[in-house]
Amino acid sequence: MEKLVIRGGKPLNGSVVISGMKNAALGIIFGCLLVKDKITLEDLPLISDVKLSLDILRRMGGEVTENEDGSVVIDCTNAVGGISPCDLVKKMRASYYLLGAELGRFGRAKVGRSGGCDFGSRPIDQHIKGFEALGGVVTVSDDYIRIEAENGIRGNELFFDVITVGGTINMLLASVLAEGTTVIENAAKEPHIVDVANFLNTCGAVITGAGTDTIKIKGVKELHGCTYAIVPDMIEAGTYMIAAAATRGCLRIENVIPKHLESITAKLVEMGVSVDEFDDAIVVSAPDPLRHINLKTLPYPGYPTDMQPQICALLAISEGTSHLIEGVIENRFRYVEELRRLGASIDVNGKTATINGVSGLHGARVRAVDLRAGAAMVIAGLASDGVTEIEDIHHIERGYHDIVGKLKKVGADIEKVEIQTL
Ligand code: EPZ
Repeated sequence: MEKLVIRGGKPLNGSVVISGMKNAALGIIFGCLLVKDKITLEDLPLISDVKLSLDILRRMGGEVTENEDGSVVIDCTNAVGGISPCDLVKKMRASYYLLGAELGRFGRAKVGRSGGCDFGSRPIDQHIKGFEALGGVVTVSDDYIRIEAENGIRGNELFFDVITVGGTINMLLASVLAEGTTVIENAAKEPHIVDVANFLNTCGAVITGAGTDTIKIKGVKELHGCTYAIVPDMIEAGTYMIAAAATRGCLRIENVIPKHLESITAKLVEMGVSVDEFDDAIVVSAPDPLRHINLKTLPYPGYPTDMQPQICALLAISEGTSHLIEGVIENRFRYVEELRRLGASIDVNGKTATINGVSGLHGARVRAVDLRAGAAMVIAGLASDGVTEIEDIHHIERGYHDIVGKLKKVGADIEKVEIQTL
């Protein structure tokens, strides 16, 4: 087991390069199951969720070659459905994309129950509603979810009761090879939805409207191989923006699409942070002190829920009282207890956190309770006086490639060390 040790109080200065987007890469990797041809993926983030996804495809008979230059060649021509390894599938929620990909390719699916960040229930009723709309008969048991489509998958119209990223991506995967046209209403509009749609279109799919709340998918007979570069990770970029502000440094963040960061930029500017935008980079710096704000997380283009813990850490050391409402994911304030160990003054009541800014935080031993909570612990540790130790860092490594190396390069005093077990 390893932990991060951070000696805080040092401003971050210099430049970081953002990796490919985790939440696009996972949908695209499982989407390769739909293609009986070679696909080369570039700019895949070298994070544990990506490595896990590639291993799942390997265990299904997919050929996966990782090249020296970081690109990955995937060929699922000989992949077999219904045999994904439960021991790997249960480690990650995005494994549920196997349902859509297997249904789309084989007309049936059998996948073990998936896992991922523990926010509580995380239902998939809308995914099931979508699969049934396409002609699938879904059976959910304790261990597996099975889908059978005896008469094949047929396009249909579907209105999502809830805006769901995973449900929207699963419907894209399940319908691209369907007989006829599928229309998804009330679809999620995140940039990762657009990236998965762009990837499938590069393979010969006919998808229009991705990025809007109505997506149309005209089923095609088959898909062909391609080379595709994953879009930059807006959540990784936002995390470094907030780390720069929290340490009162000045960071140039490279390989970003500023448009994807608009809601994050808007709230940081409201706090007094300065953000300069360039074609594929942004420069972030912050004066002392920063102002309090009120914020509610919303589906894109609103402020992202995956950036909620990170801005909470920043508001904890900003002037005045802020109100942070979690409008998307249930039970996403479990990390607040860990921030309190560092000296934060935060009250949580249901979906609202009331954050009373303090003049500074002090080092302590904390845990990463989930992926983005772990990122918030890193931000708070970088801004704290003294030493912060963060355990359970496997959560952080699911979504941030080389976070220690990237932070060290811009002046952070951060190490990953082995936890001495007695
Ligand atoms: C994706 O999760 C992301 N994960 C999450 O990022 C992100 O927090 C979330 O989207 C919201 O943006 C991946 O892309 C792998 P949802 P997902 O379906 O698809 C409810 C990270 O940090 N809902 O958009 O599971 C659900 O309970 C991770 O990278 C239903 O009610 O999220 C939630 O309240 C954490 N029924 C809301 O919708 C359903 O069938 C949004 O969930 C599906 C969802």
